[in-house]
Amino acid sequence: MSKPSIFITRKLPEKVLAPYRDKLEIDMWEKTDEAVPREVLLRKAREADGLVTMLTESIDDTLLNEAANLKIVANMAVGYDNINVESARKHNIEVTNTPDVLTDTTADLAFGLLMTSARRIVEADQYVRNGDWKHWAPMLMAGSDIHHKTLGIVGMGRIGTTLAKRGRGFDMEILYHNRSRNVEAEEQLGAEYVSLEYLLKNADFVVCLAPLTDETYHMFDQAAFKHMKNDAIFINASRGALVNETALYNALVSKEIKGAGLDVFENEPISKDHPLLQLNQVVCLPHIGSSSVETRTKMMELALNNALRVLQGDTAITPV
Ligand code: DGY
Repeated sequence: MSKPSIFITRKLPEKVLAPYRDKLEIDMWEKTDEAVPREVLLRKAREADGLVTMLTESIDDTLLNEAANLKIVANMAVGYDNINVESARKHNIEVTNTPDVLTDTTADLAFGLLMTSARRIVEADQYVRNGDWKHWAPMLMAGSDIHHKTLGIVGMGRIGTTLAKRGRGFDMEILYHNRSRNVEAEEQLGAEYVSLEYLLKNADFVVCLAPLTDETYHMFDQAAFKHMKNDAIFINASRGALVNETALYNALVSKEIKGAGLDVFENEPISKDHPLLQLNQVVCLPHIGSSSVETRTKMMELALNNALRVLQGDTAITPV
C-alpha cells in the first residue's frame, strides 16, 4: 500500500524527519531560510495529501480550491492567520497548529524583550562596542525599572498567562484585557481584568499577545498610543498587523510613549530602511518568539504528528 504524501514548505532537519519516513512520503522545499515560491507551493498542494506549513505561506481559497487530495494543513506555529480556516472547513481539510509546546519559550522572549527595552540593553551593548564608553556617569544608559511596575497584557491566552507569571516574579501588578475572562490568571496570579482603555492608560508595559483577526487588525492605532503613559513601553510578540506602524512611529517620535520592543512586523522581514529601525528606543527582533532549539524541534514534531495522525485516519492532536 502506498504511503500518504506530505509536502513540507521549509527544509527541516533529517533527525526530526527520520522517524516519519517509513510512514509518510516526504517531499520538502529544500531551503531553510527562503520561503517556497508560490507557484511551487500551488503545484505541490495539488499533489500532496498533507501540507506542513510555516507562517510565511498563505494558505488561501485559491490554493485550497485546487488541492484535490489535501486532507490536512499542519501549521508549524500557534498562530494560523496565514490560513483561510473557513475555506479549509468547506473543503473538509483539517487545519492544525502548535499550541502549548511553545508557550513558555514565547513568554520568555516577550519578557526578555520587555527587559531589554526597559533597561536599554541593546543600546548599551552598541555603546560599548562603538567605543563610546569613556566614563562612568550617574545617569549613563539609565532605563526604566521593571519590578513593582504595572504589566498590561492584551491577549490573555496561554502565552499571556505565562507572561503574567514572569511578571509576578518581578513583583509586577498585572492588568489584562481579553475577549473573555481568564479565571486561572485572576485566581492564581491576581491578574485584574480591565477594559482596553483602562489598561492602556494605566500600564507601564503594554504587551500585545492577541491573535491577528479582522477585529484585532491595527488595534494599536494613534488613539491607542495616545491613551498610553508617556513613559510606557510597548511590546509586540504576536503579529505585526495588530499595530499601525506609522502610528507607533509617530507616538515614539512625539514622545507619547517611551519605547518599544518588537518581535513582529506588518511586513516581514522588515526593510532595513523602515523608519522604526532608525529609532534607538526601539528594540527589533526577527520574529523569534518560539525560537529555541528545544521548542522549534517540538513544534516540528507536533506538526508532523498532526499530519501523520490525520492521514492515518485518526483525530488531530491540536486541531484549530
Ligand atoms: C507562532 O507560533 O505563531 C509564532 O509566531 C511562531 O514563532
